[in-house]
Formats: sequence, C-alpha cells, structure tokens
Amino acid sequence: MRQERVQHSLLGKSLHWFFVLLFGYGVFKQIENKEQLDDFGLLISEMFFAVAFLLFIMFRFIYMKRRYKTALPSETLKIQLIAAKFVHSSMYFVLTGIAISGLGIGTLYWLDYTDGLLIETIIWVHELLFSTILWLISIHILAAIYHRTQHDFVWSSMVPFFKEKVK
Ligand code: HEM
Ligand code: HEM
Repeated sequence: MRQERVQHSLLGKSLHWFFVLLFGYGVFKQIENKEQLDDFGLLISEMFFAVAFLLFIMFRFIYMKRRYKTALPSETLKIQLIAAKFVHSSMYFVLTGIAISGLGIGTLYWLDYTDGLLIETIIWVHELLFSTILWLISIHILAAIYHRTQHDFVWSSMVPFFKEKVK
C-alpha cells in the first residue's frame, strides 16, 4: 500500500482532542437520577453545558465539512471509505441527539413536567443514544488501532503518540 502522509491541521486536531475531553467531562458529571434536577443551579448548569456542547459540535462539523480530507490511503476499498464516513457522520448525529434530548429533559423539568410518559421517553432516548455513542466510539478506536498496525499513517494523522516512524 502506498504510504501517503495526510496530516490533519492543528485546528482539526485541536477540535478533535478538545472534544474528547469535553465528552469525557460530560460523562464524568452525568446526572445519576432525574430528581437531582430539583436543584435549580444544577439544572441551569446542565443546560448551559448542553448548549455549549451543541455549539461546539456544530462549529466542528462545519469546519470539518469544509476542510476535512480523510487520511485513509487512496487505495482504500470503497466499502471501507463508506464505513469510515458512516461512523464519523453517525458520531456527529448521535452526539447532537444526546445534547438535544438532554435539553428536552431540562426544558420539561423547568416547566414542571417532572413525571410522565413524555419525560420518561426522552430520558430513554437520551440513554439509548449514549449507549449507541459508546459503540461507535469503540468501533472508531478499534479502527484507529487497526490502522496503526497497518503503518498507513492514518493513526499519526490525528494521534500525537505512538506515531509511525517515517522511513
Ligand atoms: C450534552 C450533554 C450531556 C451529556 C454528555 C450527558 C450524558 C449523560 C449520561 C452519560 C447519562 C447516563 C446514561 C446511562 O447511564 O445510560 C445521562 C443520563 C441522564 N441525563 Fe444527560 N447528558 C447531557 C445533557 C443532559 C441535560 C442537559 C440534562 C437535563 C437537564 C440531562 C439529564 C439526564 C437525565 C435525567 C439522565 C437519566 C438519569 C437516570 O438514570 O435517571 N442530561 N446523561
Ligand atoms: C470521544 C471520542 C472520539 C470521538 C467522538 C471521535 C470522533 C472523530 C471524528 C468525527 C473524526 C472525523 C474527523 C472529524 O470530524 O474530526 C475522527 C477522526 C479520527 N479519530 Fe477520532 N474520535 C474520538 C476519539 C478518538 C481516539 C481515542 C482515537 C485514537 C486513539 C481517535 C483517532 C482518530 C483518527 C486517527 C482520526 C483520523 C481518521 C481519518 O483521517 O480518516 N479518535 N474522530
């Protein structure tokens, strides 16, 4: 396989890794049960976080749509290119859904609809989307590790450690 070396831009890499931290923080401070939202300060801070998260994803998506060129080598099978694009696009879609469903829960809580089918359904969707993103991120990381074993420089295009040595 020809070894092209596409490097993502500094901004592209920064957005990618800053988002990993932001997502990690979102998971770390997750709501354990909806009654916690009785604390109005927590409710507001969750809503702010979800809006910031959403704006960040939108900015990143627009930037990547304009500037992103995959580091996958040009010989890559079409099916593999489609799979990579599918996983990347799905990640944006599902992460957006997590933020929007979170905002939905928060708004209902704020309006005092704290119980009932509507809020329980949105919480169910929120949790389902979270399980889905864990699967997508796992596939994404496994794919990155697979590329590292192939020495095709896809890993090094984004990841700042265990880089391939240039021969
Ligand atoms: C984008 C930001 C958000 C992230 C990353 C996030 C993340 C999570 C995670 C990881 C869980 C646990 C899922 C599970 O165990 O299956 C969760 C559950 C939940 N989140 Fe969020 N969330 C976000 C925004 C919000 C917002 C804005 C609200 C409401 C103000 C909210 C309310 C809830 C509730 C009520 C649950 C269910 C708790 C339960 O088990 O009863 N989330 N969220
Ligand atoms: C929260 C976790 C992560 C998310 C949501 C995520 C998401 C993405 C997305 C959407 C892309 C496509 C480019 C873009 O739009 O920025 C991408 C590229 C990439 N990611 Fe991640 N990523 C995560 C974690 C990781 C980790 C932990 C690794 C490696 C250990 C990794 C390795 C890569 C590589 C190598 C690329 C470039 C692929 C290419 O050039 O085609 N990512 N990531």
